[in-house]
Order: sequence, then C-alpha cells, then structure tokens
Amino acid sequence: MPFRTTIKKNLERIKDLDIEIVAPSHGPIYNRPEFILSAYRDWISDEVKNEVVIPYISMHESTKRIVDYLMDSLIERAITVKPFNLTKTDIGELAMALVDAATIVIASPTVLVGPHPNVVYAVYLANALRPKLKFAAVIGSYGWGSRMVEQIKGITSNLKVELFDPVVVKGFPKEEDFKALDKLADEILKKHKEYNIIKSEG
Ligand SMILES: Cc1cc2nc3c(=O)[nH]c(=O)nc-3n(C[C@H](O)[C@H](O)[C@H](O)COP(=O)(O)O)c2cc1C
Repeated sequence: MPFRTTIKKNLERIKDLDIEIVAPSHGPIYNRPEFILSAYRDWISDEVKNEVVIPYISMHESTKRIVDYLMDSLIERAITVKPFNLTKTDIGELAMALVDAATIVIASPTVLVGPHPNVVYAVYLANALRPKLKFAAVIGSYGWGSRMVEQIKGITSNLKVELFDPVVVKGFPKEEDFKALDKLADEILKKHKEYNIIKSEG
C-alpha cells in the first residue's frame, strides 16, 4: 500500500515485456506472472469498495454496543462491514481489509484520557500503510473526560480522509446516541454515493 505510486510507474515500464517468470529479490519465484501482475494492478488501482472497516475494542461492552448498532445500521444501507475485535484480530487481516475499503470507523473506549492501547497500535499501522481510504470516523465511549478523538487524529496524518463527526458516548449508549449513529450511517452512505463508490445506484 505505501508504495502504490512507485509500483504504478514500474508496471507501466514493464507493460510491453513478454514475461515468463517473476524472480523477486527475495521470496519465491513465480512462473505464473499474470497472477502476480493482475494482483498488483488491483492493489494499485484508485478504486475503493463500498466497505467500512471497523477496528474496535471494548472493556465493558459500551463501545461494543455502539459498534453493533452502527454495523446493523450500515448493513441496512447495503454497505459491507468488516469488524475487527482488536483483542483477537490478526493484524495482517486488518491490513488486508484496508486495501480496498472506502471508509474506516475507529472505535475505542477512553483509557487514561486517550484511545485504548490496542486501538493506538492498529491505527498506527493503518497510518503507516497509507491505504486508499477516503473517509473516516471515530466512535466510542468515555466516563468523565476524553481526548481520544484528538489523539487518534494526531496519529493518522497520513490518511488523506474526509472526517465524519465523531460519536463519543458517556457510558452506555442511549436513544440520542443511536440516532447519532444512524446519522453517521446516512452520511457514510451519502458520501459513498457521491464518490460513485456505489455505482449501480448512482
Ligand atoms: C483502565 C481504565 C481507564 C479509564 N480512563 C478513563 C479516562 O481517562 N477518561 C474517561 O473519561 N474515562 C475513562 N475510563 C472509563 C471508560 O472510558 C468508560 O467506562 C467507557 O464507557 C468504557 O467503554 P467500554 O465499555 O467500551 O470499555 C477508564 C476506564 C478504565 C477501565
């Protein structure tokens, strides 16, 4: 992901070659070059899918309820959702999901004023990988005082995303919080349509 621009130029340079094998400087030799080349073409494309990736963690279920509600709300709007519970996620799988997703929703409780450390780790990785993501939001929970949203913004400067309004809830979510989550789902749908990520519906 971070080398997309360079790879794009290199694919252009080799486009007229009749390639028999791909012999990388490390790793196995491939004798089905088209398999490798088409994967690279796919990875460097600027297209994103109608998908929302949600890395999350929850200590006492508050953030989990928020995530579950938002997931249902997005699914109702025919948006694909990929949740990753960061207590057990294979971080490589999260990285793969980020390759094509249009939107990331980062979900965390407040721990010592900021995001939970597992969320910091996942977000740091997402930022370093520079995926094609177009949109992002932060959701989560706090008890008495939080700078979680600001701190997450501070470690995601590589993500060239448009930010939705955060939904950060005191304790367990209540009726008005669920409304805010529905509004977030509406906004995500609207943006996915505007950017032609949902093509069939315009
Ligand atoms: C270890 C620990 C540290 C916390 N630190 C803060 C804090 O600095 N500020 C705050 O507002 N809430 C803090 N909280 C409260 C949680 O953010 C709050 O209970 C939240 O609703 C938990 O969300 P969850 O149920 O998704 O884990 C802390 C809770 C724990 C367990």
